[in-house]
Amino acid sequence: MRLLVTGGCGFIGSAFVRLVLLERPGWRVVNFDKLTYAASPESLTEIEGNRDYGFVRGDVVDRPALDEVLRREGIEAVVHLAAESHVDRSILGPQVFVQTNVLGTSVVLEAALAASVRRVLVASTDEVYGSAEPGVFFDEEAPLLPSSPYSASKASADLMAQAFGRTYGLDVVTVRSTNNYGPWQHPEKLIPLAIARALRGEPIPIYGDGGQRRDWLHVEDNARALLAALEVGRAGAVYNVGAGAERENLEIVRSLLRLLARDDSLLRFVADRPGHDRRYGVDARRAQVELDWRPRRELEPALEETVRWYEQNRAWWEPLLTASPAERFASEWERRRVASKAGR
Ligand SMILES: NC(=O)c1ccc[n+]([C@@H]2O[C@H](COP(=O)([O-])OP(=O)(O)OC[C@H]3O[C@@H](n4cnc5c(N)ncnc54)[C@H](O)[C@@H]3O)[C@@H](O)[C@H]2O)c1
Repeated sequence: MRLLVTGGCGFIGSAFVRLVLLERPGWRVVNFDKLTYAASPESLTEIEGNRDYGFVRGDVVDRPALDEVLRREGIEAVVHLAAESHVDRSILGPQVFVQTNVLGTSVVLEAALAASVRRVLVASTDEVYGSAEPGVFFDEEAPLLPSSPYSASKASADLMAQAFGRTYGLDVVTVRSTNNYGPWQHPEKLIPLAIARALRGEPIPIYGDGGQRRDWLHVEDNARALLAALEVGRAGAVYNVGAGAERENLEIVRSLLRLLARDDSLLRFVADRPGHDRRYGVDARRAQVELDWRPRRELEPALEETVRWYEQNRAWWEPLLTASPAERFASEWERRRVASKAGR
């Protein structure tokens, strides 16, 4: 199998590339990544010398660059993970999300079609369904009702992928995963941000009352689900992938504080994110039945392992935290802060 992975230097992409090279000997993996602020090439250091691995720096909106790599490498399948992925950034500046996530996905699909690629796997998200009432678990037939510019761009990409299947007969599989966590996640995202802030003794912003509920999926479980969907998914099918580990954001952050022997005084309740979905809930039975996929990682021990990983890898995340717009968001959070409810 000759595989092109877009966004392979990202959090999920790098976990996927590592998994494939470890568990599918003989496969060739070419990573096509623009190396935006979100990329962490360090996450692939262990496979740099692997002769089955190749890297091309490129932008998914660049059709000639995609055509060239697809042809030169004789690519048989594409796993499309490249995206702008942070909801806060999409609120502050939506255009790059449209560019990369919507236009970029359609360019990847078109290039794959022209190159007669056998299958394209598109990474979507549970956020495309919008907020779920308590007890509601959306199956893959539920309407898409995205709330943020990020999730709207992902829903557009998701629909474009299905349109390419129905219109041009392209073999497309779409995976809608829930919130991932684990090593190498950029410290702008909730779990690593909270760990990083706690390790530095700095305030941890909590949106609204912190009662938003997410289903937490370990990145290695997600990578295995993507591989299963690539290998045994039905052409044209959509698969929800969730761990059934639903927790409130505040509960997650409190668990992290406990694991780091810090108290609640670091919590800073700030004005809620505009358009913030209260809860995500997916029914992942189709992936379980058709892909024979189940999450292997239990949330609590895997969270502890994640905390220890961040403790041991400060040299990687600390420069990202100080140099990145995560700090800008923090001042934005401070500006919008309605009340400091530290210790609540
Ligand atoms: N992280 C999650 O919890 C989660 C959940 C569900 C779905 N997803 C989806 O999974 C995919 C991967 O997410 P992630 O968290 O690893 O993202 P990430 O932000 O960590 O990584 C994105 C990668 O894509 C690259 N990239 C960005 N724009 C590009 C462009 N124009 N051309 C080529 N490369 C580009 C970046 O350099 C980076 O390496 C995304 O499509 C995301 O929407 C993520």
